[in-house]
Amino acid sequence: MTDGLSQITAQACANIALCKYWGKQGPGNAPATPSISLALAELAATTTVTRVEDSRDRLVLNGRRATGVTRDRLLEYLAVWRQRGIISGCFRLEARNSFPTAAGLASSAAGYAALALALSGFAKSRLTRAELSRLARWGSGSSARSIPGGLAALATGKDPAARRLAEAGEVPWGMVVALVDAQAKQVSSREGMELSRRTSRFFEEWTRIGQQHYREMRRALRSWDLARVGELMEENTLAMHACMLTTRPPLFYWRAATVELMQQARSWRQTGLQVYATTDAGANVALLCKRSDLARVAQRLKRLKSAGAAIADVIASEPGGPARIVVRS
Ligand code: DP6
Repeated sequence: MTDGLSQITAQACANIALCKYWGKQGPGNAPATPSISLALAELAATTTVTRVEDSRDRLVLNGRRATGVTRDRLLEYLAVWRQRGIISGCFRLEARNSFPTAAGLASSAAGYAALALALSGFAKSRLTRAELSRLARWGSGSSARSIPGGLAALATGKDPAARRLAEAGEVPWGMVVALVDAQAKQVSSREGMELSRRTSRFFEEWTRIGQQHYREMRRALRSWDLARVGELMEENTLAMHACMLTTRPPLFYWRAATVELMQQARSWRQTGLQVYATTDAGANVALLCKRSDLARVAQRLKRLKSAGAAIADVIASEPGGPARIVVRS
């Protein structure tokens, strides 16, 4: 609640889906497929919201004034909060990521979760965590999962909120992200998934497979069965990319190095290292492994980079916690 507050800074972690959301079934990014994700402590977004005595909002991203689609999306987002009477007045938003924006690294997930939490401090009445997750979802579907953090699930439906399946500390796994391409992607997830829904002959099939993967993964997670969860994650990733590839025009998010790294994970498994690969709507590869193997996996990737593989950076991360308020004044 407002309580005379003038500035709030919140932080949220990005998340990588083990079971993917690709496609919408209604307004507010209501997902057509259920998803499960792991929040990553090393990939955080920090957003400061300041109340301003002005007739316009001010939007600053990574030190620069927001422009174009990003700006339009943020303004539309603030309009959702105002239309529902949750906030009034104008604000200055200043957001920063600890990782490259729009490189397929779930920057919108972390950004909108941090923004929703910071904005909620200016709300006329107190919001529950579930309400906050729903509101974050209006900014970006995957963002709903960054509110609870840890291992989180977002079901389908008209207005779902993400639920935490396990806290960060309980999750025995982490991820190592190989940045294959730090450039902004050509087709955003937002546009891409809408194109897939409209044009891919595999879209219906993808949503059916996604439901199945979700149910099986929930089961495998109960016993922390990494081999089963990892296999399902890889299958789910490939099924989503099959849907992307059969979209018209086709969505090719991968680079040659993306495919090489996915194959590399398979061959590392044959040597006894439990590691599984996933990619989102971008060329980067995230490798799921035991927390105790994070350094080993990161080292292997760095060795590949030194040997000339097209890897720009390697980020090893423990699971991340829920979105949190950092400062209020
Ligand atoms: C491939 O949440 O970025 O990363 O709801 O349109 O903002 P919008 O899309 P977004 O899509 C994420 C897609 C994905 C899979 C996932 O994170 O579940």
